[in-house]
Amino acid sequence: MNRAAVLCGLGSWLPPAVVTNQDLEAELDTTDEWVRSRTGISRRHVAARDTATSDLAVEAGARALKSAGSDPVDAVVVATTTPDHSCPATAPSVAARLGLGTVAAFDVAAVCTGFLYGLATAAGLIATHTAERVLVIGADKFSGILDPHDRSTRAIFGDGAGAAVLRAGDAAEAGALGPLVLASDGTGSDLICVRSGGSREPWHTSTTPESKAVPSPLGPDPYFRMNGKAVFRNAVERMVESSRTAAGRAGWAVEDIDLFVAHQANLRIMHAVADRLPVPRPRCHVHLDRVGNTAAASLPLALDDAAVSGRLAAGDRVLLTAFGGGLTWGACALRWPELGTV
Ligand code: UT7
Repeated sequence: MNRAAVLCGLGSWLPPAVVTNQDLEAELDTTDEWVRSRTGISRRHVAARDTATSDLAVEAGARALKSAGSDPVDAVVVATTTPDHSCPATAPSVAARLGLGTVAAFDVAAVCTGFLYGLATAAGLIATHTAERVLVIGADKFSGILDPHDRSTRAIFGDGAGAAVLRAGDAAEAGALGPLVLASDGTGSDLICVRSGGSREPWHTSTTPESKAVPSPLGPDPYFRMNGKAVFRNAVERMVESSRTAAGRAGWAVEDIDLFVAHQANLRIMHAVADRLPVPRPRCHVHLDRVGNTAAASLPLALDDAAVSGRLAAGDRVLLTAFGGGLTWGACALRWPELGTV
């Protein structure tokens, strides 16, 4: 047997409140026409003020565990950019609230590529016999870090969570992960950034008299900032490149791909990537029209939506790709397995 991580459960969760483009029109200098034509998004879900990322993660995780059946998992990986706290990680509290006992639990931070990095981490835990079953959750509450006056980010991002269970199995089985491709380019780290609140620019300077820490001349900025145009160009190029590599390593021609699930950032980006590969646009799964860009939750939410809406049949060749802050990007090939529904 050629040990591999095999997808065996999937679940997702969206907070109930919906913000439509018309709602944004009432608050910001924007129009439904602009947002739909420039991004493909019509509405997004937004978590309540007292809802944390872990609350979304627990809901999605519980559904994925139910779809995977009754065997316990022995590790939980939470991919998020919006952890409940900067310390400790969010995963241990999610594991505890899911009643998983003292399992290994930690977060991975790769912004919108986080779920792919989480899958790769799960595959590593399984390959090294550290775990037999791993719950990977992509969860983000971006509404908590958006500048309320920034129309370019408010129009795009939404909140949500999606989750998958991976079990130890054989590389030849349907559902076996991979090939998986991951990459980064930190020279573009300023293109997507929350500048203040980390060790580079803490909220407060040290209290020791020797402290040389100087507040930024720009003043603190707690909000998520994105250079949309530069990110757009990079996202297209990198998702095309990593998708080709993953498909090539799987021995697939691009025309063999039954469903292409790209990070749901912008419909124009998804179509540009599909056209360049080329994968016919109807084989591209589109979920962002209803949920916006949900960052680390985007891929598992889109996958779950595709599964629930009957777009996936056992044996289908599925190609996932994502791009996000860091910069980070990647792709993953897998043959769709038979999955339990929740
Ligand atoms: O998930 C991680 C990766 N993120 C992404 O992949 C997102 C990538 N970037 C994008 O999706 C697009 O760049 C945006 C949707 C963010 C912006 O679309 P764009 O077509 O690139 O617009 P732009 O940034 O070039 O802005 C064009 C104009 C600007 O006005 P001026 O300066 O020309 O007067 C913007 O201020 O559009 C304006 N604009 C808006 N107008 C109405 C930006 N957002 C809005 C808005 N409503 N919501």
